[in-house]
Amino acid sequence: MKFGYFDDPNREYVITQPDTPLPWINYLGCEAYFGIISNTAGGYSYYRDARLRRLTRYRYNHAPLDFGGRYIYLRDDESKEFWSPSWQPTRKDLKDYSCRHGMGYTVIGSEYAGIAAHTRYFVPLGENLEIWQLTVTNRRATKAVLSSFASIEFCLWDAQDDATNFQRNFNTGQVEVEDGVIYHKTEYRERRDHFAYFACSEKGAGFDTQREAFLGRYRGWDAPAAVEAGQLTNSIAHGWSPMGAHQVKLELAPGETRQIVIVLGYHENPRDQKFDPPGTQTINKKLVKPAIAKYLDPAEADAAFDRLRAHWDSLLGVFQVNTPDIHTTRMVNIWNAYQCMATFNMSRSASFYESGIGRGLGFRDSNQDLLGFVHMVPSRARERILDLSATQLPTGGAYHQYQPLTKRGNNDIGGGFNDDPHWLIIGVSAYLKETGDWSILDEPVQYDNEPGSEQPLYEHLQRSFNYTLSRLGPHGLPLIGRADWNDCLNLNCFSDTPGQSFQTTTNKDGKVAESVFIAGLFVHAGRELAAIAQRRGLNAEAETYMAEAAKMEAVILEHGWDGEWFLRAYNDFGGKIGSKECEEGKIFIESNGYCTLAGIGLEDGKAASALAAVGAQLATKHGIVVQQPAYTRYYIEMGEISSYPPGYKENAGIFCHVNPWVMIGETRLGHGDLAHDYYSRINPSAREEIGELHRCEPYVYAQMIAGKDAPTFGEAKNSWLTGTAAWNYYAVAQWILGVRTTLDGLEIAPVIPKSWPGFTATRSFRGVVYNIIIERQGEGNSIALTVDGAPIPGNIIAPPSDGRKEVTVKGILS
Ligand code: GLC
Ligand code: GLC
Repeated sequence: MKFGYFDDPNREYVITQPDTPLPWINYLGCEAYFGIISNTAGGYSYYRDARLRRLTRYRYNHAPLDFGGRYIYLRDDESKEFWSPSWQPTRKDLKDYSCRHGMGYTVIGSEYAGIAAHTRYFVPLGENLEIWQLTVTNRRATKAVLSSFASIEFCLWDAQDDATNFQRNFNTGQVEVEDGVIYHKTEYRERRDHFAYFACSEKGAGFDTQREAFLGRYRGWDAPAAVEAGQLTNSIAHGWSPMGAHQVKLELAPGETRQIVIVLGYHENPRDQKFDPPGTQTINKKLVKPAIAKYLDPAEADAAFDRLRAHWDSLLGVFQVNTPDIHTTRMVNIWNAYQCMATFNMSRSASFYESGIGRGLGFRDSNQDLLGFVHMVPSRARERILDLSATQLPTGGAYHQYQPLTKRGNNDIGGGFNDDPHWLIIGVSAYLKETGDWSILDEPVQYDNEPGSEQPLYEHLQRSFNYTLSRLGPHGLPLIGRADWNDCLNLNCFSDTPGQSFQTTTNKDGKVAESVFIAGLFVHAGRELAAIAQRRGLNAEAETYMAEAAKMEAVILEHGWDGEWFLRAYNDFGGKIGSKECEEGKIFIESNGYCTLAGIGLEDGKAASALAAVGAQLATKHGIVVQQPAYTRYYIEMGEISSYPPGYKENAGIFCHVNPWVMIGETRLGHGDLAHDYYSRINPSAREEIGELHRCEPYVYAQMIAGKDAPTFGEAKNSWLTGTAAWNYYAVAQWILGVRTTLDGLEIAPVIPKSWPGFTATRSFRGVVYNIIIERQGEGNSIALTVDGAPIPGNIIAPPSDGRKEVTVKGILS
């Protein structure tokens, strides 16, 4: 069953039923001001950091689902009936409800009692504000006398404190209302230089800023007393719960349409210009008033919207494909790339599942996110790489997370996740392949944000690599530390107390537990680093990396091989994990996927054997599970992985993030059919028809789909913010379609299904547009290429030496 449909020409998903199984969300903003918006206008807004600069309040895990939002009410002032055109919070029976989630905007609307209304929400480029354009049309044969109410509830900035510290927070709330604009200025009197504002384009018939005045005692957002009465009360909040509401009276002739523009924004004043007049406690509004006035003008709002659309056209235009499979085409061209922007911006911080108060940006996550983002805005990828590497520790290790607002490593979590440093090499390598911007390697970058500790970025990569060399275990495999990619495989934690963090509770400084996954990653990163070193003319150094990678490969093949597949790890007692000798957890996806992706065992048949075992034991119709058999009880020596009931999350759930490693591995074996089949099993668009089971949005990947051991096998969770976005994009674009960036140029090496007659693609790469036409003439994966009609040797296209800016590449597969 479906709850809507894809509108590909408009790059929108149209939801046609408000009570989707879960809130289906979208993101507003792609620079510094962000918002989450659900299909019923739920969600919240923040500036840069979802915890520390939260503008509006949200009720997590609320019943009814998804509460707190950008709520609009319409009231028929004659019949006194009121409703919300976005369904929530009044949940009236609407006609023609639809929610169009598009690229950085959402339009929600419906008709009720002959009044059609829809609201377009978006964040203009370059601004720290959001615009709501409410359009109301009278479809009745008679005049309509209406009131509209737009409302939000302010969060007192620190979302964590806001939800816990009521003894203080019920006293601090403050607002100002001037020229009809509501200014939220809690804590502005002391150390904050920022405030929020909520403005309306029409002359108001009233406002409210105190929640209780608006809602009435013991009443909810579904029936605010002031809306019911048809008149806001002009309340001024002192303490308690500051909010914003604007009332506008509308008289509409039959067929008449009116637009009301609402602006919600954030502004920071220079510290020495906080107050106006100086010496008072009144906010200086001089610097913000021009922006407010500008965007309350519908023509300016429309122009800003057009700029946003053009921006997305150009971002998505970098890579467009036309394949025989609509789900592949649609995800590559629109939604997967769009999701990569969200994961780049938010990492894992703010979604319907991530509260925005829990964590900063992960070191490993953000580096991996670059794989799917770097082609869209390379300059921002560059900045991110430099920010991340500045939190690297002098040991070469890394803080596991950093805070986007301060750009500093997060001390609560610290480091010791021994895979982390290698992802920096993978991220930088992806950047170099995309841009050819070698200068980044010479950028001076601090360690642990310590002034004076600057070294070229290249040195950071060297330290990343060496980090593992000085942390090898008894078999010569890398020590795992607190965890590797699998945050829940905690082999040094031995946690026996409820509530302890499995990752950060003082871990044993274990010298025994080793990770075959990190070994595979080390081989991959080592070879990437060698290629970089070689192109910098550091041949001896490159050879050392190659030699160390070869040595590790030999160790993997000797001590990391279980006979038919790659082992996962050795535990603190030197016992095997992911071996046929184990009772549970005999085989894992991570080591088998990553080692094969890294090319380990390609020659001697081990890679083929490992992936055959993955296919036989881990693959299901809904995707590939993490391991089998699932852990049926808690193993103290294994940690969090065994804390989840079988089939969920890391305990044998389908962790979509790692499925692409197997897809890439299959392409390395030349198995285009299987690679694409695995791709399709978790492709959300291909799962649209089973929406009742899948439950999450059909336009973005979820972190997890419940595995076969779970009673809810096939149900997705934790959509949007997941490494799945970048890895699937990378796998399908660069390995299945095979339009691959390399240090030396664009490589064309498709490994597509046998049944495909070919495909076409357009790729902008280092200033040149490549129009790519692939035609299948045989069943294999060998390709013969011509560029503008001239055959070229091999399959890497060097940048045109004669300055051509557009070329046609034809590839014949046989
Ligand atoms: C989460 C984390 C990621 C980790 C994965 C597996 O997605 O953000 O860092 O690799 O879980 O545990
Ligand atoms: C939990 C989750 C895991 C995530 C980790 C990060 O362990 O299961 O997916 O990576 O938290 O804090």
